[in-house]
Amino acid sequence: MIDIIMNMTNKKMTSADLIALEEKHGAHNYHPLPVVLNRGKGVNVWDVEGKKYFDFLSAYSAVNQGHCHPKIINALKEQSDLLTLTSRAFHNDVLGQYEKYVTELFGYDKILPMNTGVEGGETALKLCRKWAYKVKGIEQNKAKILFAENNFWGRTLAAVSSSTDPSAFNDYGPYLPGFEIVKYNDINSLEKALEDPNVAGFMVEPIQGEAGVMVPDEGYLKKAYELCKSKNVLFIADEVQTGISRTGKLYCCQHEGVKPDILILGKALSGGVFPVSAALADNEIMMTIKPGEHGSTFGGNPLGCRVSMAALKVAVDENLAGNAEVLGHIFREELSEFAKENDLVNSVRGKGLLNALLINDVEESSTAWDICLKLRDNGLLAKPTHGNIIRFAPPLVITESELMECVGIIKKTINEFKR
Ligand SMILES: Cc1ncc(COP(=O)(O)O)c(C=O)c1O
Repeated sequence: MIDIIMNMTNKKMTSADLIALEEKHGAHNYHPLPVVLNRGKGVNVWDVEGKKYFDFLSAYSAVNQGHCHPKIINALKEQSDLLTLTSRAFHNDVLGQYEKYVTELFGYDKILPMNTGVEGGETALKLCRKWAYKVKGIEQNKAKILFAENNFWGRTLAAVSSSTDPSAFNDYGPYLPGFEIVKYNDINSLEKALEDPNVAGFMVEPIQGEAGVMVPDEGYLKKAYELCKSKNVLFIADEVQTGISRTGKLYCCQHEGVKPDILILGKALSGGVFPVSAALADNEIMMTIKPGEHGSTFGGNPLGCRVSMAALKVAVDENLAGNAEVLGHIFREELSEFAKENDLVNSVRGKGLLNALLINDVEESSTAWDICLKLRDNGLLAKPTHGNIIRFAPPLVITESELMECVGIIKKTINEFKR
């Protein structure tokens, strides 16, 4: 194990020392829970003082396969001894094998590999606009793309231009044109917006993660997809957070038998080991982009491809979707019962192992944050999405007995909590 960094007096640095370093030298664009981690294995992480925790955030669903899964780490080690990056100026011997594996697994003609989730989203939008002009025949610069209210797909200017959250878009204008907002989980709102013949695509999260694990009504995705089809509009699913088994299927739209025209994946596509994202689509869409018209130095690098292939194999071989489905039901049942007897808890919602606990307090309160501090003290790490919502998303390798232990920690912490 890497030695813990020493400070100037050669003493081990404490959590407080390390937090102070970040505070002084790093941008303040995050507000982390005060805990400093230096090791992870499966469902557990350890802080620099050696305290063990259950990780109930999984790096925002990036480590679905568990921390430092040996098969993924081995793939990283083996490939990093051979070749890490060629850029796409040359071919490498892993990319094609990776592309074959992923496209067969997800059932698409082609994949366009990128790195971060937001780049996957950007890629999908560029594909959608190209398709709009080259195939659908929309007049140049007139194409529109619809987004759902309270969407979150990252931090680039395109992403914040389509955001309805002031903390994401404030003071970053002027914004990218050609984006319109419809209400989430509201078919009428989508239907009305689709009357405009210049609409080329509808990009949507099958469950809105950052918005507070908002699960749409059953049938919404299917109806939305069919409406898009009837108007020759691309249905683009942002499965960066919901994909790779998190909600009990390989990707969440499968719950409603929907195959998106463009599928965006990221996060757990590499098990959280290396930034790997992708847009998947069939030839009619993917072949509209020609050499030189889109790309990334690191996208499709052999290291990322090997890691991603290993991460996907773990998800499939260990039936992480099945585990998420079964344990998700148990988790929601346990906490729904608990909500009936505890005044502080309103309800629980989610799918698979992407769940949220709604706290009986106003959205602007610090209650969820304060509960997360107590959960940390009791050995479980989670982070609020709003002042009154706590997301619970453990690695999908969690066992039933570990889950029940964690349910016990959550109940005990909330029972003892004083506002
Ligand atoms: C649904 C969704 N899409 C896209 C992103 C952006 O991913 P990244 O932070 O890797 O750019 C996120 C990140 O949380 C997300 O939840």
